[in-house]
Amino acid sequence: MSFDRSIKIAPSILSADFANFGAECEAIEAQGADWVHVDVMDGHFVPNITFGPATCAAIRPHIKTVMDVHLMIAPVDPYIEAFAKAGADIITAHVEAGPHIHRTVQAIRGAGAKAGIALNPGTPASAVAELLDMIDLVCVMTVNPGFGGQKFIDMTAKVRALRDMIGDRPIHIEIDGGVDPTTAPLVAAAGADVLVAGSAVFRGGSVTDPAPYGANIRAIRAAAEA
Ligand code: DX5
Ligand code: ZN
Repeated sequence: MSFDRSIKIAPSILSADFANFGAECEAIEAQGADWVHVDVMDGHFVPNITFGPATCAAIRPHIKTVMDVHLMIAPVDPYIEAFAKAGADIITAHVEAGPHIHRTVQAIRGAGAKAGIALNPGTPASAVAELLDMIDLVCVMTVNPGFGGQKFIDMTAKVRALRDMIGDRPIHIEIDGGVDPTTAPLVAAAGADVLVAGSAVFRGGSVTDPAPYGANIRAIRAAAEA
């Protein structure tokens, strides 16, 4: 994985057909996805449950780009090794998910993955200030995590603050929640480069009719790059 700040669209398979993850990953990549965003939820840190490392390992052979695993689980440390072994390129943990985010980041990098930190809407940019020299991505949540299809919460001031703090460091700023062609330009202008989108990518399409995925991805990218 090389680093650049070009706009990358990362469809979230939270909005995919859960009985067809392999084909869905292949379809979104064929339709222009840059990364595949994989949402892991535990029913404890967030009020919803998705799947764990075994499903990630099963999906992995169907992803040629980047497997971007977003862990919405607490505790997180006991599971990092399993998600790394499952083939995650990036493992993102929430700063709110435990008392030792520094240790968590060390564990992610120690397991051989790139390390991301996610910030809930109520968490300030300053939460990552002491970690900037050891992370690869900051995920700014623009919804409270747990569900797809929620309304975008404007976090552009936080994105700007992070962009300033990051400076020349090779750290991606990812936006997760409510991203569509209307909201994408706001966060892109503020300095975000990775745009996660679930409902706005998968709407109107399916594995047997994937062309809408491509149109949706192109619409988000064009809006962000404008
Ligand atoms: C929310 C997840 C997101 C979600 C985004 O908890 O982390 O990745 O799938 O879905 P949309 O794009 O529909 O808001
Ligand atoms: Zn996510």
